[in-house]
Amino acid sequence: MGAAPTNNIQKELAPLIIEGLKSSPKFFPSLLLWDDKGLAIYERIMRSKDYYLTQTEAELIRLNADNIAETIPDGSVILELGSGCLSKTFIILNTLAQKRKHVVYYALDVCPSALAASLAQLRSALKHTPYVTCRSLCMTYQDGISWLANEPSLSGTPVSVLWLGSSFANEPQDDFRQLLHGISAAQMVQAPTSSRRVAGWQLLVAADGTKDPETVSRAYDTRDGLSKEFTLNVLDNANRSLGWDVFDMNQWCFDGEWDAQKGQFQTCIRALKDQTARVGKEQVLIKKGEKIKVIASRKLGQKDVQGWLVGTGFTISSSWTHPEFAYSLYRFSLLEEKARVQQAGWERLSRGQLGRLVRSYFRRVFDL
Ligand SMILES: C[S@@+](CC[C@H](N)C(=O)[O-])C[C@H]1O[C@@H](n2cnc3c(N)ncnc32)[C@H](O)[C@@H]1O
Repeated sequence: MGAAPTNNIQKELAPLIIEGLKSSPKFFPSLLLWDDKGLAIYERIMRSKDYYLTQTEAELIRLNADNIAETIPDGSVILELGSGCLSKTFIILNTLAQKRKHVVYYALDVCPSALAASLAQLRSALKHTPYVTCRSLCMTYQDGISWLANEPSLSGTPVSVLWLGSSFANEPQDDFRQLLHGISAAQMVQAPTSSRRVAGWQLLVAADGTKDPETVSRAYDTRDGLSKEFTLNVLDNANRSLGWDVFDMNQWCFDGEWDAQKGQFQTCIRALKDQTARVGKEQVLIKKGEKIKVIASRKLGQKDVQGWLVGTGFTISSSWTHPEFAYSLYRFSLLEEKARVQQAGWERLSRGQLGRLVRSYFRRVFDL
């Protein structure tokens, strides 16, 4: 049977899949998890008892909604990275509406139909209020950061970047740092030219710090089999991205384990037979028992998060922690521009030179 049609993001994945298959150890881009089917399964996982993250985060946000909303100034733009089903986002936006703060909210995700459906639900839940305007951006995190630097309506506007679901900890640390550098640079581009002051830009980021092997393993290998279904869906998505049926679902199984040393649950798929994957003109041999890494769910406490922020231009300015679970929402605030410029070694530059440098940074890093 031929593979179903692809969207643009899927097409961009093909070279990354090939690169990952040729690496040692092999890996898949984790974006392969997030097609419409993957997100639909993930929504069922979120309701599963074993997956403690969603319920814990929702409680944490509900308990602290007033304080969280206080950090978001009237007139802000809120950009949510990897917005998913938006149930927790609703709590924050509804609190802002009750406080009569005008905000424009952008849900960013890579799944077009899931994004449209969840946004329609959110709009309907918020239709009573004139304070919150909801929009969507169907793109990757990286493209979202470029959007932050280039969207004319953000000039001089306070921006809050929301990153829930402990999703940032699924990104490799270097990628996370690069995204934060991008946000810091976007703020410099969008700051009013008359002032070099930080004007209300911040991140609100949820991080799961649970390190109990049993609790974590149960969440990422749920007893109802949904984690397995969710993970193996990457093979279907890879076939669609590559344009033909390279992988046979029946020749693979889920393989996940807690890595105590790295403090992460590593999800892989494992080959049940020797096989050859034909990608373009090349053939990749895969041995029985060989694994392909799919995603690492890193568990980060406050010290770990602080470590991830070093050199990014951001610092933790407040945090809220769940009363029972090691689950926190952090507010990352930007260091004053002077400190960020010093950190990057740019202190001798004029504002014009700085603007040009930041723009060239975006061209280089984000291919603008
Ligand atoms: C773990 S889910 C979290 C969803 C939601 N934020 C929550 O807390 O329930 C990760 C979400 O990020 C999206 N996502 C993953 N990688 C992405 C990327 N590189 N760019 C944009 N969205 C991405 C997925 O489609 C998915 O909706």
